[in-house]
Amino acid sequence: MLSFQNLLSVNELSRADVDVILKRATQFHETSHQISEVAKGKILASLFFEPSTRTRFSFEAAMYRLGGHVVTMESSLASSIQKGETLSDMGRIMSGYCDIVTMRHAIPYSIKEFAQHATVPVINAGDGPNQHPSQSLLDAYTIKFFQKKIDHLTIGFVGDLKFGRTVNSLMQLLSLFSGITFYCISHPTLRVSPDLVATLKNSGHTVIEMDNMNDLLPELDVVYMTRVQKERFVNEKEYLEVKDHFLLTPESLVGCKSTLSILHPLPRVNEISPALDAHPAAHFFDQAKFGLFVRMALISEMLKLEK
Ligand code: NCD
Repeated sequence: MLSFQNLLSVNELSRADVDVILKRATQFHETSHQISEVAKGKILASLFFEPSTRTRFSFEAAMYRLGGHVVTMESSLASSIQKGETLSDMGRIMSGYCDIVTMRHAIPYSIKEFAQHATVPVINAGDGPNQHPSQSLLDAYTIKFFQKKIDHLTIGFVGDLKFGRTVNSLMQLLSLFSGITFYCISHPTLRVSPDLVATLKNSGHTVIEMDNMNDLLPELDVVYMTRVQKERFVNEKEYLEVKDHFLLTPESLVGCKSTLSILHPLPRVNEISPALDAHPAAHFFDQAKFGLFVRMALISEMLKLEK
């Protein structure tokens, strides 16, 4: 049984919640691609005010694989938001039509406004640069799947640590585990927030901030690459200055651990060379695939569906 009704931020997750979801995801992974009937008669509303490929399709596919149905919105142009309807009214209205909602929006905390008046569970599928908790669960699932553990790993987080909601949410989620060494590697203008660094250190983890990856890769168990979040820059020149700062190529991996996992929430721009796609450490396409099982687990647990 989960400790929360809505998943708006990883702050809502206890360590026990994470364990429950990852365990249930493992069960779905093992029975991969069977359609079940546990969500028969239930409806997921999938409301995306910002572009998405993996998150939206994996949530929707997850609901179909559980035997449920989906109503979907890909653009606010198609809804009464265009007529001035508030998100809180929309939360009230959608609760009359469906059993669970997943929503993405460009404005931080907007999903909280929606959820305040919703009477069905709401999952944040990304609110601007703020949070992306279901992605963090699938990232944690992927780390555990390939590394066989999460505690005491050495993990490098690379790229846009300022605007990247996946990387920030994931670091926060990992603070629930023990003894992790966090290498935060970014351009000086895209640093991780001092508050997050303090949270990690207060939870007993080691945090080292760097502005280059030189000689670091052989130390790492996991490297989590991210895209510089172009859409969050007001000034294009500033984006162009930082966009090509970190590029992972087959040459960068010389001397790395044979068990290294390269993760990326995707989409990638040019942070990971396609020449690495066939490398045994390249786990980012598996990571995207595992999103299906984790979202099946999340929907099942949040709707308290039978096992
Ligand atoms: C990410 C997102 O939307 O935050 N993508 C995803 O959900 N898999 C990462 C990104 O857009 O860079």
